[in-house]
This record gives sequence, structure tokens and C-alpha cells, in this order.
Amino acid sequence: MSDTPTLLTARTEPDQLQVDAWSNEPLLVSLEMGGSNWPSSCRSGHCRTCLGQLQSGKVRYDETFTGLSPEELALGYVLPCVAYPCTDVVVQQGL
Ligand code: FES
Repeated sequence: MSDTPTLLTARTEPDQLQVDAWSNEPLLVSLEMGGSNWPSSCRSGHCRTCLGQLQSGKVRYDETFTGLSPEELALGYVLPCVAYPCTDVVVQQGL
């Protein structure tokens, strides 16, 4: 993967806020910088406060975290505090 950050977009559901999202920033940071009040607490992938579900797009994780099971990852659940977007994403808040 290139070291050059890519500017992407992230849209939140159900409020349909669209923000700039850099590939080298956690998705949560981009959402907050774009004006979203997406919930968060630990900001390290453990508490699940920021849990959402990807409606489209892909993310990657750099660090070890315990907040999601392999089954949840396979279903598209995402922890924006530790997820880095690889593509434009649409993410649903809550479950
Ligand atoms: S804020 Fe705790 S898991 Fe994301």
C-alpha cells in the first residue's frame, strides 16, 4: 500500500452527513472533523461505543483490538476509532 494519504469520502447513516476522510486517519477522526457527533469513549477499539456497520466501502485496521469478533467483522461491523478507510465508505450508526 502507498504511504501517500488518499482523500476519500465518508457518509453516515441515517443522518446522511458526508465528510472528507483521509486514508491515514481513523474514520472517527474524519467524522468528527466533518462535524459528526459520532459516539466514542475508549478510542482504542475495545469499548464498542463507536460501533457501526459498513453499508459500502472497505476499511483496514492497523492495531490489535478486541471490540469485534471475526464474525462481526465479516458482517461489516466497524469500530471507526481504529478503522482506516481504504475506499469511500458509507457507515450506519448503531445497530
Ligand atoms: S470508542 Fe471504544 S471501541 Fe471505538
